[in-house]
Amino acid sequence: MDLSLIVPTFNEGPNVRELLRRLAQTLAGTAYEVVFVDDSTDDTPDIIRAAAAESDAPVRLIHRAEAVGGLGGAVVAGIQAATADWCLVMDGDLQHPPEVIPQLLARAARGDVDVVVASRYVSGGTSKGLAGSVRTAVSRLSTLLTKAMFPRKLHGCSDPMTGFFLLHRPAVELDTLRPRGFKILLEVLARRQLRLAEVPFDFAERHAGASKASFTQGVRFLAQLTMLRFGRMSAFAVVGGVGAVANLAIMWALIALGMEYVWAAIIASEVTIIGNFLLLEYLVFADMRADSGLMRHRFLKSFTFNNLEAVIRIPVLWVIVEATHIPSVVAAALTLVAAFVVRFVFHALIVYAPQRQRAGAAAPAAAAPVAADERAA
Ligand code: GDD
Ligand code: MN
Repeated sequence: MDLSLIVPTFNEGPNVRELLRRLAQTLAGTAYEVVFVDDSTDDTPDIIRAAAAESDAPVRLIHRAEAVGGLGGAVVAGIQAATADWCLVMDGDLQHPPEVIPQLLARAARGDVDVVVASRYVSGGTSKGLAGSVRTAVSRLSTLLTKAMFPRKLHGCSDPMTGFFLLHRPAVELDTLRPRGFKILLEVLARRQLRLAEVPFDFAERHAGASKASFTQGVRFLAQLTMLRFGRMSAFAVVGGVGAVANLAIMWALIALGMEYVWAAIIASEVTIIGNFLLLEYLVFADMRADSGLMRHRFLKSFTFNNLEAVIRIPVLWVIVEATHIPSVVAAALTLVAAFVVRFVFHALIVYAPQRQRAGAAAPAAAAPVAADERAA
């Protein structure tokens, strides 16, 4: 096998046959396999199996029981399962034209790079298939921001957000990747300095179906960027900062409505505690959730900790306000900052601690990343 094609799919049924047809057409003479990593909720797996039966090239299907890590997690699972060392990652909706693959292979064959990126933004490429001018602007801006944050590692990469690239698997440490959401190439390039080349391509219109990109994906991307650049603690700090501002704003509003400041602080704290937990779950510790037991257990630990913290913090606040006449909202801010470090340590080491016994009765199969690697052909 010379080449493994990794195709993440989420409800892409109507595109499967056309993709395999165009791959067979352009890759005649190359020994390749296609690995579909599927998280679909519809009949896409059946369509893949049926198409595989008619395909000359081997087609494999990994249908995941749980979409751990989303699109990025699917790509990593595919690369792990690949037979060949050269892995080509592409979308399943034909926005990444198969006809570009021979150019990527030719560039890799020169032997001096670890990754060949198919770029929309290098001269000769276009992004006209991006739905709408808002999407185009968002893509351009986030590309700029990303390049500014990794000026050295992304030097020479005009399109770190593309999902179309050819990767030499031995050059990456798959275990160090923390896939979250859509941007897996960024994760690969930011972890380790790779030798990189680019080939332009025209980002096409979708063959069928609708895009799965969303506002939530955008927020996940920002969290991913923060974590890659500054580490988990700063992502935690950003979430804590947002929580602290929300806490103080709620407290200020309740006081303005005539509430006693201690009661205002209590209510503001409870609302923030719950909101904070959700942000930690889905942004900061998203990559550790699968391995750290049940969400309600984590919530219980986090909620108990934060309430204990509040139980201590609010009397301290009272003492500060009564003894020093510092304005109550300012004093609350001081106590929130002091609580931050302790809270980070507790969450990173205790709430999201990997559960060794998760295969046992306490945590059912929930965490199994790959349900089955079916050899369909
Ligand atoms: N397995 C799996 N799990 N596949 C997914 C998931 C998921 O949770 N979400 C999306 N996919 C698959 C889709 O089925 C499709 O094959 C591919 O990933 C890209 O998803 P689209 O919904 O088509 O996203 P897009 O066209 O907006 O985004 C593409 O363009 C970006 C550049 O603007 C993707 O190629 C991105 O990787 C790329 O960065
Ligand atoms: Mn697409």
